[in-house]
Amino acid sequence: MEKSGNKKIVMSGIRSTGFLHLGNYFGAIRNYVRMQDEYECYFMVADLHSLTTHPETKELKINVHRVLAENIACGLDPNQAALYCQSHVPETSELYLLLNMLAYKGELEKTTTFKDKVRLHPNNVNAGLLTYPVLQTADILLHRASLVPVGKDQEQHLEMARNFVNRFNHRYGEIFPEPYAFNFGEDLIKVPGLDGTGKMSKSENQYATIYLSDDDELIRRKIMKAKTDSGPTPTNTEKPDYIENLFLLMFLVSEKNTIEKFEADFNNCTIRYGDMKKQLAEDMVKFVSPIRERAESIRNDEQFLKRIMEQGAEKARKSAGATMELVRQAMGLNY
Ligand code: TYM
Repeated sequence: MEKSGNKKIVMSGIRSTGFLHLGNYFGAIRNYVRMQDEYECYFMVADLHSLTTHPETKELKINVHRVLAENIACGLDPNQAALYCQSHVPETSELYLLLNMLAYKGELEKTTTFKDKVRLHPNNVNAGLLTYPVLQTADILLHRASLVPVGKDQEQHLEMARNFVNRFNHRYGEIFPEPYAFNFGEDLIKVPGLDGTGKMSKSENQYATIYLSDDDELIRRKIMKAKTDSGPTPTNTEKPDYIENLFLLMFLVSEKNTIEKFEADFNNCTIRYGDMKKQLAEDMVKFVSPIRERAESIRNDEQFLKRIMEQGAEKARKSAGATMELVRQAMGLNY
């Protein structure tokens, strides 16, 4: 069952655990910006999720402000979409608690992100970490959203969200639509790291990740250090991973004819990776620097950010409140 009105509902979130990077932009924020005119959108900073791995809260405020400022600098319009902070919508915690009764220990333990986190932080395997996908499902269901713009790494969480929805609907009645990961009809994106392994990430892999706050020189240095080799020998060979990744990054920020030139050079074995990386670095600087500059000035305006968060939370709580009414009714929590 969809909400009344015919605009589809969109929801997504970003943790406040560090600096945003190209993966966050191309996997998520670019889609937020493209969706905000057409859909009813709720985008939030997942500060509660960040507590599952970052219990120290000294940096939390500055991180929340940075994520908000960077979202706006990328083109998100807080007057169109609701842009809010997760902990400002306490209905999140209520729905999370109720959904926890429908989530089983076995399936939670099998979640890839949980297993990764256990490996990385063996001394902090807390219950919040285990039930991370339940909290994420609560974020989405609070607005009864059906479209969730995210990168490829979130696919499993969305699959789990659909399982929880189906369990809820089966037991208590059809309240929630099934949410799906969304990327404008294309495959979900994974922006690779510059070292040829893994993906760009907020906290790991810092030299292989380009952050939206990196200055021009740092961007150039990171790209020039990216792994290459002496070039292909037979014509039209397959690209090794680390070269494929450089092309992928070029595809995101460079002009079509630039990409075509280097593709042709690769295929006829005349490519000079030094030139390719210089070109990629300049195109990347051109892409990142306006975002960085806008974000810096927005970040310094605390009053503005506070106002945006309040306005976003008000919109989000209205939608969340209506959903919780339906949930309490459906579950018989209405005496
Ligand atoms: P987070 O904060 O790790 O990442 C935010 C968004 O950026 C995408 N992303 C990437 N996309 C492509 N390539 C990459 N290298 C890359 N790295 C990150 C992520 O897929 C994500 O879309 N659990 C979520 C936050 C969350 C959420 C939600 C998302 C909380 N509640 C409700 C959707 C709906 C997370 O940790 O994202």
